[in-house]
Amino acid sequence: MRKMLVTGGAGFIGSNFVKMILDRKSSNRVIVLDKLTYAGNIDNLRGYLSSPHLDFVRGDIGNAQLLDLLVPGVDIIYNFAAETHVDRSILEGGSFVRTDVMGTFTLLQKALEHKVPRFVQVSTDEVYGSIEKGRFLETDPIMPNSPYSASKSGADLLVRAFHKTYGLPVLITRSSNNYGPFQHPEKFIPLFITNALEGKELPLYGDGRNVRDWIFVDDNCRAIDLVGRRGKPGEVYNIGAGAEKENRYIARKILEFTGADSGLLKFVSDRPGHDRRYALNSAKVKALGWKTRTSFLKGLEKTVRWYSKNQRWWKKIKEGSFSEYYDRMYGERLDQAKNRKG
Ligand code: NAD
Ligand code: DAU
Repeated sequence: MRKMLVTGGAGFIGSNFVKMILDRKSSNRVIVLDKLTYAGNIDNLRGYLSSPHLDFVRGDIGNAQLLDLLVPGVDIIYNFAAETHVDRSILEGGSFVRTDVMGTFTLLQKALEHKVPRFVQVSTDEVYGSIEKGRFLETDPIMPNSPYSASKSGADLLVRAFHKTYGLPVLITRSSNNYGPFQHPEKFIPLFITNALEGKELPLYGDGRNVRDWIFVDDNCRAIDLVGRRGKPGEVYNIGAGAEKENRYIARKILEFTGADSGLLKFVSDRPGHDRRYALNSAKVKALGWKTRTSFLKGLEKTVRWYSKNQRWWKKIKEGSFSEYYDRMYGERLDQAKNRKG
């Protein structure tokens, strides 16, 4: 039996990961530690909470006393917990530094103190910054451009330092943009799908030609699991599906798949410091035996279907405090877009 501590396991990727592990019906025991911020959602683990293989603990990765209770005897830590939305980091970066940097530092200290044999840091391709041509390699320098990616970079550097200085057996995964079921509707793909389903405008930043390398969440979860089991301590693993798409292409596909009116698409003022393009070379994780199973259009169709069927899940989120955030983030931009037309 392996005992796993999964932080951030009530978020988008973390919850998909936990369910994948539990679906395997092995004897593994999973402890989820999640603060349940606005982004965490206990509904994401619905149907699994009564499993004898799962313990859910609401708490902060920065709480050292709590970690002293949870970490002893753990075989592997997967650190998914983070503040994750770039736009929110531009409005307010403090919580990103507190969780992504300081929280990870506390977790590393406790992993070291309690001699945890493996520590997987779930990082992001955003730490590399933007790339005009070609694909990032794990050896490329870290050049973050947003408070979010700078905080995640701080965490990566601490994780590396704990390996070099103290010999903590760490692994870092840097994946590209995930999409799929249970993603918070603040993010591009679920925001556009749910707005299209509600007949609301789709606010496309800048010229809509920014490129992201999209990966279906299940593919990333399998890769993270593989790195956790077979990766080499001290190493970084890029995880990308090679599905580089312009935002405007995705927006149009969402309009097509939802059958919404193309007039809903609105070009709004750009995100400050908006990275133009991300693309990853994932040869290293492929050499461990990983490959993608879901192509972009299949994954997008699946995702649109999931959001169409699970309206109660996302409406509960959108009708809550999210609507204030939405007005703050998009109200003026959408008004400006309308005035430009008129
Ligand atoms: P998410 O925002 O959906 O979930 C984050 C989870 O962490 C939430 O459940 C939240 O409650 C929890 N959390 C936040 N602060 C916490 C704290 N201090 N202590 C304990 N729990 C806390 O994020 P996601 O998209 O699922 O991302 C998960 C991880 O993967 C993050 O580390 C993120 O940086 C990384 N990542 C995400 C993507 C992506 O495209 N979504 C891509 C690459 C890497
Ligand atoms: O690359 C991995 C990263 O992907 C993760 O580390 C982050 O946690 C995750 O949030 C994501 O960051 P992005 O900034 O790339 O994702 P987001 O969904 O916010 O935006 C994707 C693209 O869509 C980006 O070019 C900005 C654009 N966009 C986004 C929103 C929310 C719009 O045009 N309009 C929008 O309303």
